[in-house]
Amino acid sequence: MSKPAVESFRPADNVARMRASATLAATQAVVALRAEGVDVVDLGAGEPDFDTPENIKLAADEAMRDGKTKYTSVAGTRELQTAIIGYYEREFGASFEPPEVMATSGGKQAIFNAIVSLIGPGDEVLIPKPYWVTFPEIVTFARGTPVFIETAETDFQLNAEQVFRAITPKTRLIILNSPNNPSGRVIKMEEFRRIMEVLAERGIYAVSDECYLRFVYTPAKVFSAASLSSELRERLCIAGSFSKTYAMTGWRLGYALAPREWTREMLKVQGHSTSNPNSIAQWAATTAFNGPQESVARMLEEYTKRRKWLLAALAEITGFRCIEPEGAFYAFPDVSGCLKGEVKTSGEFVDRLLTEEHTVVTDGAGFGEEGFIRISYATSLDRLKEGVERIKRVAEKLASE
Ligand SMILES: Cc1ncc(COP(=O)(O)O)c(C=O)c1O
Repeated sequence: MSKPAVESFRPADNVARMRASATLAATQAVVALRAEGVDVVDLGAGEPDFDTPENIKLAADEAMRDGKTKYTSVAGTRELQTAIIGYYEREFGASFEPPEVMATSGGKQAIFNAIVSLIGPGDEVLIPKPYWVTFPEIVTFARGTPVFIETAETDFQLNAEQVFRAITPKTRLIILNSPNNPSGRVIKMEEFRRIMEVLAERGIYAVSDECYLRFVYTPAKVFSAASLSSELRERLCIAGSFSKTYAMTGWRLGYALAPREWTREMLKVQGHSTSNPNSIAQWAATTAFNGPQESVARMLEEYTKRRKWLLAALAEITGFRCIEPEGAFYAFPDVSGCLKGEVKTSGEFVDRLLTEEHTVVTDGAGFGEEGFIRISYATSLDRLKEGVERIKRVAEKLASE
């Protein structure tokens, strides 16, 4: 008897449409080259080069020894929820109730929960450019339609007018990210309020990804959407993260602050997928928010030095044009002035840099901006100097070709 024909593996349509992460591809290239013993300068990484502060590690150690190793409630321990609420009260004068707070496995899961619990077929989601690579992919997964907002005309500074113009009757959600990855742009409080007013008039929801919240450079100011009036927060979900603020990327701890009815749905998504975030990491995060904040100030000081050096160095490279990033730890120069001959795209520029100079940066095309590259300065000043020297060599060679 002949066997029935069995179809080869076929992924679900919505997953097949998702693209693998561009930033992850850069990480893999570094690993492969280093394995061959090559001296690679990695300016691609989106994670702090600092170690997690000692008091946070100690809290995790203690939690483990105290047997805090069991499931917690899906939303996280009451202690962590209280720490998050206390932090927002102290820092931003905002009040939240426990049913509006949930701990997540990184800020990424908060964003994922928020999108998939709200978006379905036919829903449009506004995503200002340039955007963090993951936003459109989650919208695609949820079977929604990403609608991009062009911001090049204002040097990537999003304003309420641009948001207004992009709204259609199908718009259900916008994803705001300030400080922005990759541009470093920070939306000022007044403009943020105007954007939220435009959204509120039309009943549109917002996710505010505040993962780089603490890394803002004077004269720009730290601002959380939590400090907006409660009316403007009625359809707002704040996605927060411990990853960058406390150099805790591997611990996988973030949180969502959202109206209780939205949180209830997000808890269902998380409860049936990953359950509670790691219990030990939750105790570490509780200490991160409740404990001294000097380590954050030290990291900011170091980033400030590197940023200053980097912006001056990039200004010296022919064919580069870079806006001043006000936050996060990236520079996002326009390199189109260097694109000629065989190097016609920023992707080809990135490849040339990797093959000729063993230096990794991220192609802006992955963030929706062809012709740009993202340079991370979450690396020591020495390595940054070496990397920029190499970038300069490639740029100069192209200019003389
Ligand atoms: C803009 C932005 N949002 C969210 C995240 C998620 O961070 P995590 O899941 O580590 O908290 C990242 C990480 O790179 C990011 O760049």
